[in-house]
Amino acid sequence: MVESGAKAFYCTTPIYYVNDAPHIGHAYTTTAGDVLTRWHRQRGEQVWFLTGVDEHGTKVQRAASGGGVQPQEWVDRLVADAWLPVLGTINAANDDFIRTTESRHVQRVQHFWQVLKDNGYVYSAPYEGPYCVGCEEFKLAGDLVMGEGEFEGEQLCPIHGRPVEHLEEENWFFRLSAFGPQLIEHYERHPEAVRPVSAYNEVMSFLRQGLVDISMSRSSVSWGIPLPWDHSQVVYVWFDALLNYATAVGYGEPKDSPAGQQFANTWPADVHLVGKDILRFHAVYWPAMLLAANVALPRTVFAHGWLLVGGEKMSKSKLTGIAPEQIVSHFGADAFRYYFMRAIAFGQDGSFSWEDMAARYTAELANGLGNLASRATAMVERYRQGLLPASPSIGEAERALQELLVTTVSQADEAMTRLDFADGIAAVRGFVEAVNGYVTDQEPWVLAKDPATADRLDTVLATTCESLRAIATLYHPVMPETMSRLWQQLGADVALGPIGEQPVDRVAIWGQLPAGTRVTKGDALFPRLEDET
Ligand code: ME8
Ligand code: MG
Repeated sequence: MVESGAKAFYCTTPIYYVNDAPHIGHAYTTTAGDVLTRWHRQRGEQVWFLTGVDEHGTKVQRAASGGGVQPQEWVDRLVADAWLPVLGTINAANDDFIRTTESRHVQRVQHFWQVLKDNGYVYSAPYEGPYCVGCEEFKLAGDLVMGEGEFEGEQLCPIHGRPVEHLEEENWFFRLSAFGPQLIEHYERHPEAVRPVSAYNEVMSFLRQGLVDISMSRSSVSWGIPLPWDHSQVVYVWFDALLNYATAVGYGEPKDSPAGQQFANTWPADVHLVGKDILRFHAVYWPAMLLAANVALPRTVFAHGWLLVGGEKMSKSKLTGIAPEQIVSHFGADAFRYYFMRAIAFGQDGSFSWEDMAARYTAELANGLGNLASRATAMVERYRQGLLPASPSIGEAERALQELLVTTVSQADEAMTRLDFADGIAAVRGFVEAVNGYVTDQEPWVLAKDPATADRLDTVLATTCESLRAIATLYHPVMPETMSRLWQQLGADVALGPIGEQPVDRVAIWGQLPAGTRVTKGDALFPRLEDET
């Protein structure tokens, strides 16, 4: 629960379809949300981080029937065996995990649509048109591309590269067309509400073409949430799924109930993280639904790019997915988190390659940061019996590092809070390099040979460990497990308390690790990769 009073920083990921197991595309969004929310927690804010799964709809129903089981059995099994474990694999610290088959969700979805019907935004009408089951989307003519080769003469979904199906059914419609002007006005006033700018422009041009009403129910699908006023139909899966962001935090519950309090302290969402494939749902349909229900709009929808395989979106349906476990078992969860946040500009497409990941792991983590930490802790052990010395002779070089740390912290904070993870990491990496350069220049191993330079040696060791104290704190949201180990090696847990409680705005305050702190050289933070045979 979020403590009452303060509005929590509320971040969500999409809820993923459980037609199959997760691949690194799903883990990518969840990792970004986890890094962002850990950063905000470390700023001392209250935070709520939600992820979960989308269990209804045709796609899941067909997958279950292909697997020869009932849909509920299918989703229960996949959630337990694959979707919950992947959160552990990437070390996500989500506060909640919502499944759309849970009764808290089902009841609140029914309540929501009853409100919209009562408000006059739902009417019955026939639907006829194309539908992509991969997207679970009623497609518009302009959304489709002409097929070639195998699919010559057919209309294809450009995302899934497969022919769309033709639907004809009696449905209930949502009066989406009523909300175009309000949405345009809202986004003109709040350009930060859809990011990055490319996503904003896409949404605005879609809105300016004019909105048409859209089916909010399905009569030919049974695996879903029954409409409260018409049990022969279920809520269209997207108009069930989008609501998770509100139902999970207590939408529709009485204000004085715990769930109602939670809603008051959490809503509106600060950031909905999504892939660009589902931008329109989040930046057009979802806010229109909220307007129709008189609920506040989310502050930002951020559409990131795709992880590509051979130039195409990695996907479950094309079987091009790499399981997160494959990468994590080789490099570790922290290296996974670091790599995807550092190597791909958030908002742009990127490709994963084993070679690139191995190269960065070795250069930036094992040789860069890992080596710095092991050199520093080993020298305190060897030259000062493992007790951190004081810094009796601060000079130019030390002052330069202290100043650099001030700008590093403000650059990192500025970048991380605007979801520029690569820039945030680059700022910290710059500081790591400067500290490495400092150690190389000061040559503590030479200072150690002459008793006359004992003060300088003390100062260099203390300065290096103090720098590592700052680095560990700044990298903790990105690499929580490894930086906690570094924190322990520095003796900082005893001296300063848990790493997760070190506020970002105090990182640049110099001299926090007291003299006499017990420093130990532990196992390598980033072990050398074993050559693959
Ligand atoms: O769309 N690159 O679920 P989904 C980057 N249930 N991110 C990727 C990716 C890739 N190749 N592949 C998937 C749904 N993702 C709906 C969402 S929300 C109310 C309902 C990530 O299983 C990315 O976040 O198809 C993308 O938007 C999401 O997974 C789609 O997951
Ligand atoms: Mg998808």
